[in-house]
Amino acid sequence: KKIIIINGPNLNLLGIRETSVYGSQDFLSYFEELKNDFTTVELEYYQSNHEGDIIDKLHQIGFSYDGVVLNAGAYTHTSVAIGDAIAAINTPVIEVHISNVHKREAFRHHSYLAKNCVGVICGFGLMSYKLAIQSFV
Ligand code: DQA
Repeated sequence: KKIIIINGPNLNLLGIRETSVYGSQDFLSYFEELKNDFTTVELEYYQSNHEGDIIDKLHQIGFSYDGVVLNAGAYTHTSVAIGDAIAAINTPVIEVHISNVHKREAFRHHSYLAKNCVGVICGFGLMSYKLAIQSFV
């Protein structure tokens, strides 16, 4: 199986950024752990702080991969365009969040992506990504 993790804005600062909310592990070291956990899966990682780049990536991979694990960060709550890109592609997408967005500010409770996703996993820290990959496998 070919699965890609796509991280959106500010997630390049994982491990440094608001560690009380997002934890102290950087994503690249976690990604190494994931590759060890899923040796039979072809796992890729992409991160961008730019909405259009995330959309371009979804178009590029959206007809050839088996799954996308997408943490669109704050774009989750603002981007009709990323929601439309998910609807436009064939590859199934799982929306993930590190934090439990429903425990936080009201503006984080709504997602423009979720209705076009297979499911949503949030609140399990970095393990949210692992659970999403598990479900594709
Ligand atoms: C996040 C939650 C979003 O509300 C926030 O803007 C992020 C990270 C999470 O993984 O918990 O950047 O997607």
